[in-house]
Amino acid sequence: MTAKTFAPLLDAHGVKIPALGLGTFRLQGDACRAAVSSAIDMGYRHIDTAAMYENEIDVGAGVRAASVAREEVFVTTKVWTENIAAGTLQLSAESSLHRLKLDYVDLLLIHWPNRTVPLEQSIEALCDAKRRGMTKHIGVANFPIALLDEAVRLAASHGETLTTNQCEYHPRLDQSALLAACRRHGIVFVSYCPLGQGNLVNDPVLVGIAKKHNKTAAQIILRWHVQQPGVAAIPKSATPAHIAANFAIFDFELPQEDMQEISALRASGGRLVNPAFAPDWDRTA
Ligand SMILES: NC(=O)c1ccc[n+]([C@@H]2O[C@H](COP(=O)([O-])OP(=O)(O)OC[C@H]3O[C@@H](n4cnc5c(N)ncnc54)[C@H](OP(=O)(O)O)[C@@H]3O)[C@@H](O)[C@H]2O)c1
Repeated sequence: MTAKTFAPLLDAHGVKIPALGLGTFRLQGDACRAAVSSAIDMGYRHIDTAAMYENEIDVGAGVRAASVAREEVFVTTKVWTENIAAGTLQLSAESSLHRLKLDYVDLLLIHWPNRTVPLEQSIEALCDAKRRGMTKHIGVANFPIALLDEAVRLAASHGETLTTNQCEYHPRLDQSALLAACRRHGIVFVSYCPLGQGNLVNDPVLVGIAKKHNKTAAQIILRWHVQQPGVAAIPKSATPAHIAANFAIFDFELPQEDMQEISALRASGGRLVNPAFAPDWDRTA
């Protein structure tokens, strides 16, 4: 029997975050439960959900159905942007725990900043949710640099550190400035849409690099993410073969020239997730 592989752990102020997780947006019901439990059974130790995904019941059931103790799995959920005012944020976190049937999550994120709610209030509420034991750690998502700087400062004023900023990142979207800011703050950058919502798996450059390494383009992209210092990725898949393949990226390394060729795919207009309420993004290539 071969030993099971696990994703390396990234460090954010002493918090250990598995570099590869399973995204669960648009996964629901039996398919979601099966994806989560089979991913954990094959070695995933990081699962990403959100109140907005309306799948926390299934994600929690999947975590419990896996043959691994709950404490072994790093579970992230998020508070939707409309619910980040004082009091409302804590209620949202409580409802998430109720749906997940978990006593705590490992990481609670503000899903998106909200221009109509003072950040000071949201960060204080996030810190309060942590103090009350609803979550082990706290972080943000979709925070550009200026907002991230402010959030870090506000959390520090409550004696807390932010551990992650979860943002869109894939070879077509340059995030070098935001990534540098995360590193400056000792924060892990969690890449969402790491496969460009699946659109990148037929890119000829990536397919060419994949052939050289006897891997798939999806594996090359995920390897590119986790080979960057302080970067984790949370690809979503409902397909068992993809869930397994996406985890089989820790047995090879991309040489610098391949890393650079992949990064050079950055393009203007590469951003896929840009709702009307999005913050002013940092300048990208
Ligand atoms: N914080 C935020 O605002 C935010 C926003 C968006 C997403 N997220 C998180 O990030 C996660 C990932 O993002 P995403 O789901 O939008 O996009 P993604 O992970 O980049 O792409 C998912 C798509 O790629 C396909 N896929 C996965 N593995 C594959 C493989 N090995 N070969 C070929 N195709 C493959 C999937 O199809 P199959 O299911 O058939 O494999 C699915 O269609 C989400 O699920 C969610 O947890 C967070």
